[in-house]
Parts: sequence; C-alpha cells; structure tokens
Amino acid sequence: MSLRSTPPDRRTCWRHARLATFAPGAPWGWIDDGAFVTEGAQLAWVGADADLPPDPRVDAEVNLEGALVTPGLIDAHTHLVYGGDRAGEFEQRLQGASYEEIARTGGGIRATVAATRAASDDELFASAAKRARLLMAEGVTTIEVKSGYGLAEAHEARCLAAARRLARELPLEVRTTSLAAHALPPEFTGRPDAYIDAACTWLAGQKARGLVDAVDAFCDTIGFTPAQTERIFTEARRLGLPVKLHAEQLSDQDGAALAARFGALSCDHLEHLSARGSAAMKASGTVAVLLPGAYYFLRETKLPPVPALRDAGVPMAIATDHNPGSSPALSLVLMLNMACTLFRLTPEEAWRGVTVHAARALGLADRGMLAAGLRADFAVWDAEHPCELAYRFGHSPCRRRVFGGRETDAAMPARSACRNESS
Ligand code: NIG
Ligand code: FE
Repeated sequence: MSLRSTPPDRRTCWRHARLATFAPGAPWGWIDDGAFVTEGAQLAWVGADADLPPDPRVDAEVNLEGALVTPGLIDAHTHLVYGGDRAGEFEQRLQGASYEEIARTGGGIRATVAATRAASDDELFASAAKRARLLMAEGVTTIEVKSGYGLAEAHEARCLAAARRLARELPLEVRTTSLAAHALPPEFTGRPDAYIDAACTWLAGQKARGLVDAVDAFCDTIGFTPAQTERIFTEARRLGLPVKLHAEQLSDQDGAALAARFGALSCDHLEHLSARGSAAMKASGTVAVLLPGAYYFLRETKLPPVPALRDAGVPMAIATDHNPGSSPALSLVLMLNMACTLFRLTPEEAWRGVTVHAARALGLADRGMLAAGLRADFAVWDAEHPCELAYRFGHSPCRRRVFGGRETDAAMPARSACRNESS
C-alpha cells in the first residue's frame, strides 16, 4: 500500500486523551478525558470518554493514558524547495550589511536562484524531503510549499514538481503555491514589467500540469510593485487560482488591501500593515499569516499589529516561513513560543495559528480541528496541556504522529533522513 492510499475503513478507538480539539465552544476545544474514533482516513467520532457510544465495529482500541492529543500541525507558509544555503550571508549581516543591501547587490534571493537552477531534480527533492521530515517529526501533517527560487518557466516547474513529489513519497499533505513574482531574475534586470508578463504566461501551464494550488507574490520595495502584483493576481483569477501575498514585510505598499480585493486566502508577514489593510482583510475573510522566524532572524523591530488584527477579528495563523535567507527555521513548535514571546499572542492564539487558522489560510476545510468528519491527522504529545509546548523552547515532545488515520514514526523520519542524505 502506498503512503498516500487511504487505509481500509478500519475503525480504531483512541481513549483517555487530553484533547485540544480547537472546535468552537470551550477554550482550546478542551476535553479533559476525551476519546475519538478514526475510520480509515477520517475522524468518525470525537467527545468525552464517558460519552463514547458502544461500537461493535471497532477493530482496535488504544489507551492514551492521559496524553495530550492535538490536530496535526499545519505549516501554512514555507519555501522548502531550493538549492544551497545562505550561511555566508548570515555572516555578512552579522558584520552590518542589511537584508535589503545584500538583495540589491545580487545576493539574497538571487543567490539562491543560482544554486536552485544548478541543482538536479533529485537534489532539490532530497534536500526538501530532509527538511519536510524534520517538520513532520514535530507533528506537522500539512505544509504549503512555494516556488520562487527558479524564476524561469522550467525551473519554477521543477520546484513545484519537487513539492508535489514530497506528497507522493512522504505521509504528508503538500499544497503548492506559485511564487514566480518573488524577485527579478538576472535575465530581466531593469525589465520588471517584461518579467511579470512572462511569469503570467507560465501560470496556465503550471495549472494544466496540476502543479499549482495558489499564487503568491512579494509586493515590496525589493520585490514587485502593487501594479505588477495586480497583474499576476488578475491572471490567477482568470485561471480560477486563489491568491495570497507577501505583504507589508519591509514597508507598507498597501498590498494587503490589494490582496483583499482579490479575496486572498492570506496575507503574510504584515509587520507594516496599516489599519486600512487590516480592515480590508477582515472584510474579505483573509487570514493574517504571522512569521516570527523571519522577524527574529532579520532582527526586525516593527511588530505586526497583533492587537489591531485581534480587535478586528482577523484570524491569525503562524508559520515557519522556512527559507534560506530570512527564516532557516525548521520547527513549527518553536514558532509557537516565538509568536507568544515576540508577538504577544496568547498560547491558545498561537496554537489556533498552526491548526484551525492555518487550515483556513490554505483554503482547507477538512482539517485543523479534531471533529467528526474531518481528517484523522493528529499528534500525541508528551505533555498535559498544549500551553507547555508554547512555553518551552528547544523541546518538541511529539510522541506519535497520525496522518490520514495511519500512524507514522514521529521521530525516526528525521533521523533516518539525516543518515541517508549525509552519507
Ligand atoms: O518570506 N520576503 C520574501 N521572501 C522570503 C525570503 C526569501 C529569501 O530571502 O530567500 C520571505 O521572507
Ligand atoms: Fe515567505
């Protein structure tokens, strides 16, 4: 049976768990002595252990002995597929160069583009798989992966195909996002509008080949203008692809309001978001994806306007933004702590940000909570309450990981990846 195939409709009853379901109602969707029944890839029943109905069809019963169970974690913003790394650039920044200066002098994203183009398909896949396994070892069951380091039609397609291959070869759901409008490639120096014209023409082919689920752009002073972003979005809309945006990361371009006009699934980063942008996101139901790893690693000082987002009722997700330049983070659990410490989210807000709101940022209605009818994607933790995982850092006590009703070894994938791929 392949990793992706749904198991037969085997029913397993999981009993005596501390359940953080994130379903509406009680804080955390908390059930103190909870139980749930998985049927194949789905949750068939979730509730208090005392209310468990007698079920003669149950094939197996597992006593979780009070362990904490949460939905599988969802990393709604990654740039997982790329060649090389930027450790040298990290040293340059330590000596005083800024992220923008490095980008303007041909380093930054363009350095990763050169390394990505030089990598073979198998190399791109293997390095991305190694990173994905590290995320999975901490209970991650769904990730988003962006292109954006190919910046030429064939190379963008290779990166998206590597992301699709992750989903075929690992017990993991992968949503792909086309981010051709990430930076200007060297062939188009001085001709950003011509590049956007070209990038617009690639989308239909990506869609026809089943390579893309959404379209993103980097709207900023070192990225693309709102007018150029709008052209990419217009083509995405014509093709029926949802959009999202790297918005107001380094400056306020009013990108969030633009994205909201296109009904964006999410706007991401948002350190420089205005009140107008936040109101527009609320009106369009757009999720704010906050990225504390990039804020920390770039030593930003301007905080995303969390109180305004909270007051406006904009759902907030938290993601790693894993990429080689601004956030080489491979722990979504660490992002829980950073979201609380740096951005002052409550632990429950941070958790909703990697579960229910992260699912919404990807347009996925079948996951992110533990509830009957949703996917049986969950993690079992060596903890009594999810707050502990936001409180500790450098500590990821994932004990068991279940993807679509199938248990996968939570720890071994990362260790075996390191062994295989360094040899
Ligand atoms: O999300 N802001 C643009 N893109 C990435 C960084 C890419 C890079 O530096 O390689 C981000 O932070
Ligand atoms: Fe990003």
